[in-house]
Amino acid sequence: MAEDLHIASGTKEEQYVALVPQVRGLLEGEPDLVANLANVAAALKEQFGWFWVGFYLVKGDELVLGPFQGPVACTRIRKGRGVCGSSWAQEKTLIVPDVEAFPGHIACSSLSRSEIVVPLLRGGEVVGVLDVDSASLDAFNAVDQRWLEEIVSLISF
Ligand code: SME
Repeated sequence: MAEDLHIASGTKEEQYVALVPQVRGLLEGEPDLVANLANVAAALKEQFGWFWVGFYLVKGDELVLGPFQGPVACTRIRKGRGVCGSSWAQEKTLIVPDVEAFPGHIACSSLSRSEIVVPLLRGGEVVGVLDVDSASLDAFNAVDQRWLEEIVSLISF
């Protein structure tokens, strides 16, 4: 696939509809996990301009920072800690409209105001999470959940 991403305008839904086939194209025929995680993070950051987009991967009893776009971030997160570790423990997507109201939120940056974390499930096991942070309050909803869950399902482990 061409390396240029076509940036769509319109509603959030329309932006995802335009983005998903491009993500499929980026992933097609490429088996390398780091390359694929890096391109998915970059595509999401380019399309939506969020503050931070990246992956944490399960290594033993911790999440370890993987490919991301945005400012430097916390490297290791234990299971059940913060939004990422809670999403891992609960094996479900968590939407946090106001990070300051989430007990135990891990503030890698004080500029992050809202967050969505989507677990990467393979064979019933969480192998990592996609974490997206916005500098605006209440930036994520069920539309993001639906499409981000679809996007992470395209990544093969
Ligand atoms: N806020 C996350 C930590 C990761 S950074 O936002 C990149 C959390 O509470 O798990």
